[in-house]
Amino acid sequence: MSAHAVHLPTPHHPANLRPFDIRRDLLAVADLVELCFAPTLDSDGYQYIRQMRQAARAGRWLPAQPADLDAPLMGMVWVEGGVLVGNLSLIPQHLGGKTRYLIANVAVHPRYQRRGIARQLTLAALEDVRARGRAETWLQVDQNNQVAVDLYRGLGFVERMRRTSWRGWPQANAAAGGGPRVRKRQPQDWSRQQAWLDNIYPRDLRWQLPLKMNALRPGWQAQLQRLFGTPRSLHWSALDGDGLRATLSWQSSTLEADRLWLAADPLDAQPPLAQLLAAASRQLRRDRKLALNYPAGLAHEAMQAAGFSALRTLIWMRYPWEVLLDPAHTR
Ligand SMILES: CC(C)(COP(=O)(O)OP(=O)(O)OC[C@H]1O[C@@H](n2cnc3c(N)ncnc32)[C@H](O)[C@@H]1OP(=O)(O)O)[C@@H](O)C(=O)NCCC(=O)NCCS
Repeated sequence: MSAHAVHLPTPHHPANLRPFDIRRDLLAVADLVELCFAPTLDSDGYQYIRQMRQAARAGRWLPAQPADLDAPLMGMVWVEGGVLVGNLSLIPQHLGGKTRYLIANVAVHPRYQRRGIARQLTLAALEDVRARGRAETWLQVDQNNQVAVDLYRGLGFVERMRRTSWRGWPQANAAAGGGPRVRKRQPQDWSRQQAWLDNIYPRDLRWQLPLKMNALRPGWQAQLQRLFGTPRSLHWSALDGDGLRATLSWQSSTLEADRLWLAADPLDAQPPLAQLLAAASRQLRRDRKLALNYPAGLAHEAMQAAGFSALRTLIWMRYPWEVLLDPAHTR
């Protein structure tokens, strides 16, 4: 199949659109991202922006591809009268021999919005990925951000999942309620926990989450890894009689919140998640916030009973290269 078969609207490449140059643009991108995302930035978001500014101070000494910099390295910018007013970051992830791209930091200065700039930036990014071999291309958009949802749908992105980010604090007096018993996870629980985690945090999601399955595995290898700086973890299991119903793992983090990973049988309509969260709550440090990512629309009651609130729900969208490459669609 030739590359020409892809039905991607041709981006116009006016003089205003050019590739992001880390040495020249990073500070202006940090300012623009802060301005455009101000209403939704949390402390991790501000940390990300601080990191961009710190890196930008290295100026022309900054390597074009800094190895350990958690900042945008690729993307497109839009410049009007010498001022950077639009940005799109293209973040590659190389995992398991596969490259995926995340489109992020799409921002247009409020005075320049509604002129088609974000659309041109996104088309140019897609053109770039197409030229590099059409690796999977994803983005995440807040389900309440209708403007951006319309923009991406209009360009052909397809919704693949919705995930809610929950935040909460451990509560000393968390009530377990009745029902299943909660105990420390046992090694024999792992095979089912792993299968459930695979289902609730599928591979299409895991490349963007700090979930390292091997670090949650019981046994000496995981303990050894933890000694060498990987996050610390604790685990609980909920049981009905002898039957395992659900598991919960806690993982320390250097970010604003420690992580929880909940897992239950997808066929179980009412897994005892509230009991697990309450048991964990009673054992965890009160001064560390907790973050939990879960499929949208599930477990609301359990989360709220455990004192968690929904921070945001993101729609995960993917660009359908495979559909566009299907001859039936390219005639
Ligand atoms: C979302 C954002 C990047 C759009 O930038 P923009 O340059 O104004 O977008 P465009 O002019 O290219 O518009 C493309 C499409 O987006 C939608 N759109 C853009 N602005 C809109 C508005 N005010 N109301 C409704 N739809 C709008 C429309 O579908 C539009 O297509 P149309 O003009 O043919 O109807 C910009 O509003 C922004 O920076 N918002 C804050 C940061 C943000 O939310 N980024 C997205 C994160 S995923």
